[in-house]
Amino acid sequence: MNREQAEKRIRELRQQLDEHNYRYYVLSAPSISDYEFDHLLEELVKLEKEYPGFYDPASPSQRVGGFVSKEFAQVKHDYPFLSLGNTYSETELNEFDGRIRKIIDVAFEYACELKYDGVAIGVVYHKGVMQKAVTRGDGLVGDDVTVNVKTIKSIPIKLRETAYPEHFEIRGEIIMPEKVFHKINAERIEAGEEPFANPRNATSGTLKMQDSSVVAKRNLDCFMYALYGEDLPFKTHYESLRKAREWGFKVSDHMVKCSGMKEVMEYINEWEKGRDKLPFDIDGVVVKVNSYETQRELGFTAKSPRWAIAYKYKPESAATRLLSISYQVGRTGAITPVANLDPVLLAGTVVKRASLHNADIIEKLDVRAGDTVFVEKGGEIIPKITGVDLSKRPSHLPVTRYILNCPECGTVLVRREGEASHYCPNEQGCAPQIKGKIEHFASRKAMNIEGLGKETVELLYENRLIRNIADIYDLKAEQLESLERMGKKSAANLIEGISLSRQVPFERVLYALGIRYTGETVAKKLALHFKNMESVASAGQEELTAAEEIGETIAASVFNFFRDKKNQEIIERLRKAGLCFTLGKDLISPKISTKLAGLSFVVSGVFDHHSRDEIKRMIEVNGGKNVSSVSAKTSYLVAGEDSGPSKIEKAKELKIPVISEQEFMDMVK
Ligand code: IVH
Repeated sequence: MNREQAEKRIRELRQQLDEHNYRYYVLSAPSISDYEFDHLLEELVKLEKEYPGFYDPASPSQRVGGFVSKEFAQVKHDYPFLSLGNTYSETELNEFDGRIRKIIDVAFEYACELKYDGVAIGVVYHKGVMQKAVTRGDGLVGDDVTVNVKTIKSIPIKLRETAYPEHFEIRGEIIMPEKVFHKINAERIEAGEEPFANPRNATSGTLKMQDSSVVAKRNLDCFMYALYGEDLPFKTHYESLRKAREWGFKVSDHMVKCSGMKEVMEYINEWEKGRDKLPFDIDGVVVKVNSYETQRELGFTAKSPRWAIAYKYKPESAATRLLSISYQVGRTGAITPVANLDPVLLAGTVVKRASLHNADIIEKLDVRAGDTVFVEKGGEIIPKITGVDLSKRPSHLPVTRYILNCPECGTVLVRREGEASHYCPNEQGCAPQIKGKIEHFASRKAMNIEGLGKETVELLYENRLIRNIADIYDLKAEQLESLERMGKKSAANLIEGISLSRQVPFERVLYALGIRYTGETVAKKLALHFKNMESVASAGQEELTAAEEIGETIAASVFNFFRDKKNQEIIERLRKAGLCFTLGKDLISPKISTKLAGLSFVVSGVFDHHSRDEIKRMIEVNGGKNVSSVSAKTSYLVAGEDSGPSKIEKAKELKIPVISEQEFMDMVK
């Protein structure tokens, strides 16, 4: 295929994929199978990689993600991001209607929609192409999360070929469907991470992720609910959203027009019952005056429009007796107070326990064992206590005193500055912390030791066979065979699993140590920068912050971890056990040639076979120079997926060759 043919095919594929995306995500009427779709997308991604000169920020390939952003730029909204007045009662809803009727003396209608419980987003389009997607923030300024929003398939990157305004903003709510939420939480629990409390938190956490390829896998969705722009050619809100659907946006199927409060109330009641059947969370209904002209007449108060209101459903709540408060210790030593309740039926399940979060909340609620408390279940999995029925409080009920010592090991608890939770600092002597660290060490993304899950860790701990991660490598088959629920075969399998973990690469060993704030990505960055355990362990805080993406908090945590005598002993034992303490050959780059001497390179975007850092290292070890921005002196721009469009444009302008990963590899071969 020559360049021209490639360009033609790229265009074709983009157009086809856009159409299929729309049919699948907006109309829910796909015309090809997922398999065929993936095939076309793969072909496009491959061609775009071979010919980075045809980069287009609006290509459907952008949905795959892969762009890594250090922090999100702050962007001022063109239209302030207002919120809505809230009410929980029919009386107040009628008052809202009454206020409007005082000003408007002609007949008018309302548009009613579901109130999606997610994260608000404003997406700006210019000439039919997504320009930016910005979170609400403080209402005036939000975070530019465009790279992540581009991975949401129901938000078009390029609009369909119909008449749309040249420039406009559309706002909506990004949500995580319930099914996806449960799946992600199950994965998090398996990996030893905290589950998200509800789909809204999961959505907001996902949108702030720095690696958009992870966002792409989270299957977020988005319903649009408002259009903003100068001279929009519509008379009503309803009509504008209908049109938006034709341009490619997903808008709710459940929007209706109502002629008065009676119909509005019917809609509200219908969805209060029906909401359990929706595949996502809603927390109420939004009632809006439909006519734009009438909206303009009514105008705004300082905070919200006079022409709209949110009717919120009361979270289901119940009253029950608080029997006692107990305290749980997590793997990091964080203490969680838990309310033990007289079992009560709430939203279809029997609730026995509820979270009390931390000491401040207990004090604020003044909740005491023996009280009658209100328990609520919103979108959350763990119900929470929202208040105390003081009228039912028996006299002389003693005030709750938050524990001073760890309930597991007795150590005096500490509370770090700026943090809400108390911690048990006895990291190496407190059972749940020890077991939690061992579980993390053995987990799939860390040392991946088959057969060493939660229950086995518990069993080995109870039998005093392990007290820290280094003890794992001293285990003998004979010790294991005699244990309850073990047997010869499982014992042999476990020993085999442990032995295999000696091949796990250095960056994962570093992650497995469970250093606070050192997740998978940070561990990898440290490994790439320092190359072996000795160098990470001996690095000062300043040296640590010199590594890519390592800030002061992480540096301090890593530094302190390696200053601890007990940690030093454990690491020495792990070395003797034969764990991998140096970066793999594939990631290390010895000085090899002067092939690129005198040339300077800008490396931009995400690549198929190497990370950006790896390509930069290859340039260095072959005698070339890395520079950060394209100028007349630049010799080549090595462009991957999601490479900055301005860089490509600048390179084209200055006639600097734009090369792909493959072309670069050919140069250094
Ligand atoms: S209209 C100026 N419609 O609820 C009014 N908001 O305080 C613009 N929300 O966080 C908002 N579903 O993101 C509107 N169908 C809907 C909505 C909706 C959810 C959210 C919105 C904001 C809050 C309103």
